[in-house]
Amino acid sequence: MKIDVRSLFKSYSGPDGETIHALRDCSLEIENGNYTAVVGRSGCGKTTLLKLIAGLEKPDSGSTEFFAENSSGFPGIPKMGFMFQDPRLLPWLTVEQNLALAFPYPRSKTEKKSVQNEIQRVLAMTGLEDRAASLPRELSGGMAQRAALARCLCRKPNILLLDEPLCSLDAFTRLRLREELERLWRQLKLTVILVTHDIEEAVFFGDKVFLMNQGKLDEEVPIPLSRPRDYRGAEFQELCRKIEDLLLC
Ligand SMILES: Nc1ncnc2c1ncn2[C@@H]1O[C@H](COP(=O)(O)OP(=O)(O)O)[C@@H](O)[C@H]1O
Ligand SMILES: [Mg+2]
Repeated sequence: MKIDVRSLFKSYSGPDGETIHALRDCSLEIENGNYTAVVGRSGCGKTTLLKLIAGLEKPDSGSTEFFAENSSGFPGIPKMGFMFQDPRLLPWLTVEQNLALAFPYPRSKTEKKSVQNEIQRVLAMTGLEDRAASLPRELSGGMAQRAALARCLCRKPNILLLDEPLCSLDAFTRLRLREELERLWRQLKLTVILVTHDIEEAVFFGDKVFLMNQGKLDEEVPIPLSRPRDYRGAEFQELCRKIEDLLLC
């Protein structure tokens, strides 16, 4: 699914009635199957950008269009998974019951069986096979984010929107999950947009990294490194430093 984000503007009214320009003329072209990372400091408009692409909020002006995978130019039907910064699981439901909410309520035994099979499939994919009956409070931070990812994958999305999905995790879990997610997305061949304040994460995932500053997408840095990427490598670190310099100047 190709995504064409054209000149999005969005402003909010601040606590004292002032206008906050959250997005100012943001445009992005994302090819089918590409990983796009957007990196910028807190408050620069990353979440707003994802919300507008997902259609969760309306822009003041501008548009987002989706095109079918064969690039025929025909509009495509986006099936989006949105992974938030926190897992947002319902605390009184088990992992399996949380995932079941991603499906229309099954009206027959056959439908129920197919939902159950689909849930088993995504639980296996995200390494949570033995956690189906757990409540969210019984999961570690990493497991809860896996469950959130599993919920995203239930409806077989062709686009994944990821809002700092690893930032709330401890460093060890983050590194492990980062590698697992990258492998999984490559295997599923999804079009991915990841927003983050973590430069290393952006370079680890992105085919391209866009730099965002005060509601504007300033600069685009291609990441020509082969996958899976070694974050300790000299080229990797060099790219991180380059992006850091560009963001700080
Ligand atoms: N619903 C809202 N009402 C008022 N201001 C908002 C709202 N959502 C976001 N903002 C403001 O818009 C700016 C961008 O926010 P956001 O997109 O959440 O940034 P980021 O995700 O990069 O931290 C911030 O100044 C934030 O305070
Ligand atoms: Mg945010």
